[in-house]
Amino acid sequence: MKEIALFICILFQLSILSSAESNDFSIDLIHIDSPLSPFYNSSLTQSDILINAAFNSISRAESFPLNTDVNSDQTITIPNRGSYLMPFYIGTVPRGSLAIVDTGSDLLWIQCLPWECKYVVGYGDKSTTRGTVATDIISFNNSHDGRIIEYPNTIFGCGYNNTGVFQPQGAGVFGLGGGPLSFISQHGAKFGKRKFSYCLLPFYYVQGSSKLKFGVDTQTKRRGVVTTAMVSLYPSTFYYLTLEAVSINGRIVRPDERTVGNIVIDSGTATTFLKTSWYKKVEAAVVEAIGHQSVAVSYPPRPFRLCYKDGSITNFPNITLQFFGAYVELKLSKLNTFLTVNTLTCFAIFPTEKTSIIGNLLQMFFNIEYDLDKRTVSFAKANCLKE
Ligand SMILES: *[C@@H]1O[C@H](CO)[C@@H](O)[C@H](O)[C@H]1NC(C)=O
Ligand SMILES: *[C@@H]1O[C@H](CO)[C@@H](O)[C@H](O)[C@H]1NC(C)=O
Ligand SMILES: *[C@@H]1O[C@H](CO)[C@@H](O)[C@H](O)[C@H]1NC(C)=O
Ligand SMILES: *[C@@H]1O[C@H](CO)[C@@H](O)[C@H](O)[C@H]1NC(C)=O
Repeated sequence: MKEIALFICILFQLSILSSAESNDFSIDLIHIDSPLSPFYNSSLTQSDILINAAFNSISRAESFPLNTDVNSDQTITIPNRGSYLMPFYIGTVPRGSLAIVDTGSDLLWIQCLPWECKYVVGYGDKSTTRGTVATDIISFNNSHDGRIIEYPNTIFGCGYNNTGVFQPQGAGVFGLGGGPLSFISQHGAKFGKRKFSYCLLPFYYVQGSSKLKFGVDTQTKRRGVVTTAMVSLYPSTFYYLTLEAVSINGRIVRPDERTVGNIVIDSGTATTFLKTSWYKKVEAAVVEAIGHQSVAVSYPPRPFRLCYKDGSITNFPNITLQFFGAYVELKLSKLNTFLTVNTLTCFAIFPTEKTSIIGNLLQMFFNIEYDLDKRTVSFAKANCLKE
């Protein structure tokens, strides 16, 4: 009933849409744990931040829905504090706002006071956000030239009673999901192509910003681009890909289960997750590749499962990902798969009983483009500082 009410609200809002003059743009993202973030906590060490990120990722992975069946296709979001914040402006008299960049949800919503058209969105973990559906001008400061780019008549949710684990207080969510309500679905036609891309840097890179681009062809001049198909499964918000194997120093480790659409690529989960049976085989291959001269610590700090004394790994394994349809493997660096936590170096991939997830640590230092028209996701090694 409530979903129907939401749908009617949205149909009404769609009916008053008109076309806008706008084009492509690039945004500097703020890592939520960087000193530039309003949510920065200066009493946390880098290791504290990484441990918190791992715990947050585990709770986000836990709330991913298991069903890929059509009946579960609803406006869904995985609540979490996310990792990257996007600055934007709202209203004809522009008011600055920040929202978590989230490929795991569709709607853009901000926190504000009630309006007339109410909605309730239920989330995976029974959190809810109540509010109104509204349209207004959303504008961005194009980081290329400082020009303000306006998108009139953007549909967004205006939350005024957010319960559950929504964090941090005051930030909205900028949904980049594949569903019809997401910003890219609403406005893609205006920049001629429904595509966006990002190049992510870790929170400790303070000399430059991660970039998010809309409507720009970002892979055409790069070498070694790994392109794979998006798989249509439910909920349609998520970007499902097909990861056929993980290779560790050339040893191919395949999942036990079906591979079509077996992994979700997500901007809001930090660490990567593989189905438990697959994870165990990958972990065993990593331990073997690192070799016996480096001894894993007996009691890794929670939530990590495999840690070595920092500096004791003399040969980091070459880990690559083999995606369906890709001519080349995606070569990962140790920064994508290992984290330094206090005096240890820990493996940054975890097992899950839910959906396998490509987290944002694994995506760092790659330019990743989502083409919603061609239904592909492509990866290319990039210097994200120079994007
Ligand atoms: C900052 O981190 C410290 C140490 O974990 C914690 O006690 C404190 O509550 C945090 N502050 C905020 C504002 O979250
Ligand atoms: C856009 O961003 C640039 C760089 O941060 C800044 O100098 C400029 O004042 C901003 N423009 C507006 C209109 O806020
Ligand atoms: C906010 O939501 C909670 C839980 O659904 C409800 O108990 C409370 O009355 C609501 N508050 C307002 C001001 O609507
Ligand atoms: C890892 O990759 C590098 C560069 O491609 C190569 O030189 C090295 O031999 C590889 N190591 C192993 C153990 O395969």
